[in-house]
Amino acid sequence: MARILLGVSGGIAAYKTLEFTRLAIKAGHVVRVVQTPDSEHFVGRSSYEGITGAPVLINQFEADPAGGVFQDQERPAHDPIAHLELVANCDVYLLAPASANTIAKVSAGMADNMVTALALTCRKPLIVAPAMNNDMYLSAATRENIETLRRRGVTVLDPGTGELASKGEYGVGRLPEPQELLDAVERAIAGGAEYAPRSLDGLKLLVSAGGTREPIDEVRFVGNRSSGKMGFAIADQAAARGAEVTVVAANVALARNPAVSYVNVSTAAELEAAVREHFIATDALIMAAAVADFTPAAPSEGKIKKAGREGMEIELVATNDVLKGLKDLRREGQVVVGFAAEAGEALLPEAQRKLESKGLDMIVANDIADPTIGFEVDANQVTLITAGGEPERPPRGTKSQIASVILDRVEALLRPAASQSAAEGSRRV
Ligand code: CTP
Repeated sequence: MARILLGVSGGIAAYKTLEFTRLAIKAGHVVRVVQTPDSEHFVGRSSYEGITGAPVLINQFEADPAGGVFQDQERPAHDPIAHLELVANCDVYLLAPASANTIAKVSAGMADNMVTALALTCRKPLIVAPAMNNDMYLSAATRENIETLRRRGVTVLDPGTGELASKGEYGVGRLPEPQELLDAVERAIAGGAEYAPRSLDGLKLLVSAGGTREPIDEVRFVGNRSSGKMGFAIADQAAARGAEVTVVAANVALARNPAVSYVNVSTAAELEAAVREHFIATDALIMAAAVADFTPAAPSEGKIKKAGREGMEIELVATNDVLKGLKDLRREGQVVVGFAAEAGEALLPEAQRKLESKGLDMIVANDIADPTIGFEVDANQVTLITAGGEPERPPRGTKSQIASVILDRVEALLRPAASQSAAEGSRRV
């Protein structure tokens, strides 16, 4: 159980936080809500009061009728200063939706309403979930304000891309779905043993993410559609579980987590060199990157000109298989996990073949024939195959939920004895 403080600012996406509140309570947490005055244009306080069973605070000069405590706490004898007490009592403060205006105020340290004042005095994990129009999100001011918050250790969630509130508008700026907000909250309080015991404490994880680019000339390349979302989600979760995480990122345009180290690479050869360098010290490698199997034999200098050509052929030569090549470096006890992108019926037999030929402990198989999962999208469904084990198909979920399942299996592979006794322990209960 955690005490979640929810700060709602003005935005149409505020309606999603009603569902978030319901889910959080269902998951055993207690929630108190504060709102900016503008947010009441979108969702009124009585909706949150009905769900949480506690008063909502909007005006920072009014006393909190509940005495600044959460529903599970005893009310103090004196009337405290609400905006100091409530944030001191919470385990995590989630700003959702965080409008461009609220983000600007919080990054500038302003405290002109209840929501911003609580952010300024917050000493607990602060999570900001931006939701706004595409142009507002991409404006230089908002980008800089978000960077400022991240530098200060605030977790700023990446908004989704898709249809936005105004008719016909499409872009980046959607508030993450209620379950994703709850996942982020539970990750932030992972220090509290119930959510993610720091089960990877003291271990080093190496994750490759993204897709390599093989130059044809100085402008064009042979690339692939991997966005890096899956690898980054694994890295974030592993860091929350206490691991020291290095990501070899091949052309990934996603936000970076201050708790993770990144090595940026572009080509398959650069990725191979970086993975080999860091593999030696790592306890587990999770190879989520899509690595080119072929590279142009002789990339041209400058930009190849079209004039005078009817067509052209580019000679490709094979790259090294990074995973196969690690066999010579591998120490006993190191866990190596690969990914397999396959279509349809070939999925399982091909994944099994790669598991064996690459000498892996586990392979995560992705069906690329289904356009609603996998490349560039947030949802995923995978089949996990371990050496000598039965294929396992966890439910479809967000990439962060799938990351969590993958890490549970990696932990079991890293500490077989410990996880077996934990499993026996839970059977005894
Ligand atoms: N991989 C690798 N080095 C390569 C290509 C792939 O280490 N040159 C890794 C990927 O990171 C992934 C796994 O191997 O973890 C499987 O990648 P995939 O592209 O599905 O397999 P390939 O070995 O390229 O086989 P195929 O071309 O038959 O699909």
